[in-house]
Amino acid sequence: MCGIVGYVGNKDINSVLMAGLWKLEYRGYDSSGVASIVNGDLEVRKVKGRLMNLQEILADKPLSGNLGIGHTRWATHGEPSEQNAHPQVDCKNEIAIVHNGIIENYYSLKEELIKKKHVFRSDTDTEVIAHLVEENYNGDLKESVLKTVSRLKGSFAIAVISVSEPDKIVAYRFGSPLIVGLGKDENLLASDISALMDHTRRVVIMSDGEMVVLKREEVKFYDKDGKNIEKEEKKIKWSPATIQKGKFPHYMLKEIHEQKDIIQKNVNLRIKGSEFDFGENFHFSPQELAHLSHIVIQACGTSWHAGYIGKYLFEDFARVRTEVDISSEFRYRNPVFDGEPLVMAISQSGETADTLAGIREAKAKFLKVLSLVNVRESTISRESDSTIYLNAGSEIGVASTKAYTSQIFQLYLFALYLSRLKWALGSSEIEEKIKEVKGIPEKIERILKEAVKIKKIAKKYKDGKDFMFIGRGINYPSALEGALKLKEISYIHATGYPAGEMKHGPIALISKDSPVVAIAPQSSVYEKMLNNIEELKSRGAKVIIIGSEGDKRIKEIGDDIIYIPLCEENLSPILVAIPLQLFAYYIAALNGRDVDRPRNLAKSVTVE
Ligand code: G6P
Repeated sequence: MCGIVGYVGNKDINSVLMAGLWKLEYRGYDSSGVASIVNGDLEVRKVKGRLMNLQEILADKPLSGNLGIGHTRWATHGEPSEQNAHPQVDCKNEIAIVHNGIIENYYSLKEELIKKKHVFRSDTDTEVIAHLVEENYNGDLKESVLKTVSRLKGSFAIAVISVSEPDKIVAYRFGSPLIVGLGKDENLLASDISALMDHTRRVVIMSDGEMVVLKREEVKFYDKDGKNIEKEEKKIKWSPATIQKGKFPHYMLKEIHEQKDIIQKNVNLRIKGSEFDFGENFHFSPQELAHLSHIVIQACGTSWHAGYIGKYLFEDFARVRTEVDISSEFRYRNPVFDGEPLVMAISQSGETADTLAGIREAKAKFLKVLSLVNVRESTISRESDSTIYLNAGSEIGVASTKAYTSQIFQLYLFALYLSRLKWALGSSEIEEKIKEVKGIPEKIERILKEAVKIKKIAKKYKDGKDFMFIGRGINYPSALEGALKLKEISYIHATGYPAGEMKHGPIALISKDSPVVAIAPQSSVYEKMLNNIEELKSRGAKVIIIGSEGDKRIKEIGDDIIYIPLCEENLSPILVAIPLQLFAYYIAALNGRDVDRPRNLAKSVTVE
C-alpha cells in the first residue's frame, strides 16, 4: 500500500527517490510520483501504472534540486490516474504533499475549502491536506502542518514541501508508519526501513502524534503541540535480505522454495534441546503464561488463517480455549474479556492497520499482547508486550507463502510450550512432537521436488472457473488458505469450506465444471473426509486430493492426487500449504497473471 520517501542532501534527487520507491514497490501500488523544488518552483512528475513509467519520464525530464518527496499510491479515493497520483499540490502549485492513509473527514473539509475558493483537481482525500496547509500557512510551514493535522481524522503519514521554505521536508505521523534515516550531509525518510538502508543504518522510528523537520544538516522532532522532543536513534544491525528472484521467474515461486530453509532456521533458533527459545523480544514469564485463562487471536488474510490453525493447536495441545477473529471485526465488536486472556496478533508486515487497531483495543483494556511478526521494528512488534519473529526474510510476493508456514511453525511450538506450562501434555509426548517438528524441513523438500507434477495438474485445471477447497479439523483453515491463494493471484473464483458443511448448501454448486481440491492427509478425520469426497464424486465433481504418501484409497476416488509425506496431524497444515501454494502459483502463471503484484492488492495494508 502507499509508500513515502523523502530526501534532502547532495545526491542526485532522481536516483535517490527512484531507488527508495523501488524498495517500496512490493507494498502494492497503482501509480506513483515525485516532486522537488528548483529555483523557487515546484517540479512534479506523476504517472499511472508501474514505476518503470515514472523512471522513463524522469529519464526524459529529470527533476533537479537537492530535496524531494516521492510516493507509490494504492488507490482508495479516486481511480488510479495521473491526476490522482501523489504528490498532490495546493492551488498555487507551491506546496506538495505525499500521504499514506485515509482522511476520514475529507468530504467536509473539502466543502469548507471550496467555500474558501480553493480549486480541487483530483478525487483524492489527500488533496484536502495540501489546500489546508496552504490555507493555514502564515510564514511557518511547521506551524501550518501542525494546524492542519489537528483538523484531520483518520490515519496518515504525510510529508510536505513548500517553495516558501525550500530547505526542509516537514513530515507527520498518525497511524501510518514513518521512519527517519540520519545520514552525513543528508537526511531521509520513508515508510519502510528497507528504503533507507542503502544510505544509512541510523534510524529514528516515529510514533503517532509526532512531527519531524528534515534539513540537510539537521533533524528536529516535535510533538503534536509543536514542542521539541528528543527521539532515540536506533542502529539497524541486520542486513536487508537479498531480494533477487535468482533463477525463479517470480518472487512467489522463489519464496515457496525457501520454506525448507526457513523452517530449518527456525528449528535451529527456537528448539534448544527440550527447551524453547522464542527470541529476544519474548518477555512473558512462564508464571504469567501458566495462568492465562484463554487466548484471543486476531489477524487479517493469510495471517488469520494461520491464527485459525493456532486455535486447533492451543486447544488440542494446551487445552486453552481460543477465539479467532478477523481484526476488522474484532476491533469494532466490543469483545468480552474475562479471566486473564492473552491477545495474539499475527502479521507478516507488522503494519496491517486493522491488526494494529486490534492491539490498541486490547491494550486499552490492559490485556497482554503477543505478536507473531515477520518485519523487525514494525509498528505491531513495537506496540506488543512480546513478539515472536517469524525469521522468514523479506517476503516480496503479495500472496503470503513463507511467512504463513513460519507462522504455523511458531504457533505449533508456542502451543507445545503452553501445554508444558499447563501440564496438558506429558514430557514424552512433547519430546515426540519436537522430533516430528525437526523432520519437517526434509519433508518440505520432498514436496518441492514434486513441483513439476503439481504444475501438470495445474495445467489440466487452469481454465476452471469456480474452485472449491475442502478440509476438516486443523486442515479446514488450510482449505480457506488454498482458496485465498488461488483467487488472490489467478483472479479465479474459489471458496474454502469445512468438508462436513458441504451438504448444507454448497453441494448445490457441484457439477463436473467445478473442480474440488480436497485436503485429506492421514488424520483423525480422514475417514470422514473420504465420505465427503465420495458425496461430491457421486455428483460429478472432479476432485484433486492432497493426501499422504502410500494412501491407495484416495487413488481410487480422486481424479488427481498430490502426495505429501506422512506427519503428525497437527503439523500437516505446513506440508499441505506447499502444494496449495504451488497449485495456485502455476494456475496463475499459466494464465499469464502478474503473480507477484496481483491487481488491486497490496502487500502492506496500512489503511483500514
Ligand atoms: C494483505 C496481503 C495478504 C496478507 C494480509 C495480512 O491483504 O495481500 O497476503 O495476508 O494483507 O497482512 P499481514 O502483513 O498482517 O500478515
